[in-house]
Amino acid sequence: MKALVVYDSIFGNTELVAQAMGRALGAPEGAEAHRVTEVKPEQLKGLELLIVGSPTRAFQPTPATKRFLGSIPARGLGGVKVAAFDTRFNVEDADSAILAFLVSLFGYAAKPIANRLTRKGGELMLAPEGFFVEGTEGPLREGELERAEEWARRIAAEC
Ligand SMILES: Cc1cc2nc3c(=O)[nH]c(=O)nc-3n(C[C@H](O)[C@H](O)[C@H](O)COP(=O)(O)O)c2cc1C
Repeated sequence: MKALVVYDSIFGNTELVAQAMGRALGAPEGAEAHRVTEVKPEQLKGLELLIVGSPTRAFQPTPATKRFLGSIPARGLGGVKVAAFDTRFNVEDADSAILAFLVSLFGYAAKPIANRLTRKGGELMLAPEGFFVEGTEGPLREGELERAEEWARRIAAEC
């Protein structure tokens, strides 16, 4: 299966999640994981599976992730299976009613990524997923890399 994981990452946590997914896909050699700014439209040609992930920043994907998604031509993901993930805070850790309210209104990055991927013709394989960081700069919550691998394996099994 020709699969690609595309991610953005400021502090390195989303990168670790993307790399774990890459390892879990298409064993034994794994799939490549590339930063959004390094992916060229040609690399999407002949793809069977595209997974895109971003840190959640102000309830949204990063600007670079949005630019990457915007650069995919209309119907450019016809016939491609897609999935989306983000990294995020756990709202309950913040213990803030205002933040919880804002999150309930505006959500996280993964859903808008999934929406953009399907708008370009991609077939969504699993619901958008979030992986938790302990603080703004991480680290990832214990067990999240294993959960990311498992999530990617579930997607591969559906393909
Ligand atoms: C400016 C800024 C805004 C953020 N906004 C959100 C947010 O709206 N929701 C959330 O869950 N996490 C938010 N976070 C936490 C990030 O999701 C966290 O830094 C990210 O998951 C780390 O991923 P990275 O190491 O790949 O950059 C924010 C962090 C920063 C620095």
